Amino acid sequence: MNILVINGPNLNMLGIREPGIYGRETYADLCRKIREHAEKKEIGVTLYQSNHEGDLVDAIQQAYGKADGIVINPGAYTHTSVAILDALKAVSIRAVEVHISDVDAREEFRKISYVRLACEKTISGHGTDGYLEAIDYLAGGN
Ligand code: DQA
Repeated sequence: MNILVINGPNLNMLGIREPGIYGRETYADLCRKIREHAEKKEIGVTLYQSNHEGDLVDAIQQAYGKADGIVINPGAYTHTSVAILDALKAVSIRAVEVHISDVDAREEFRKISYVRLACEKTISGHGTDGYLEAIDYLAGGN
């Protein structure tokens, strides 16, 4: 089982950006937490972060034939990107959308998610534990 964990724009700024919303854990802390969890469960993980929409599309396309599942937090592109939605649809890899904050309890524009249309599940507002829940879901199928 190989899972690709994709983080979009500004998630490299975790720990610095709006800590009241996103917490004090850094992106490096998040990567460590995901790797440790996956190792314990004997799941292969690849971590990828980019601030650029096209790079995120490339990462999804490159997962074709390699990844069994995708965990994706597209950051602000969640609310705007048809290109990321189409990439997920193109590769047909099982995907789970994750948001650290509870996007449905914030501004109206954050309630819209294009990528959700290509995801089996959305986990929102569980902090960084949401990534681990998404991995467990893809690994266990529940
Ligand atoms: C986010 C929520 C998005 O609205 C925001 O643009 C982000 C992070 C989250 O993890 O809560 O960058 O995806």
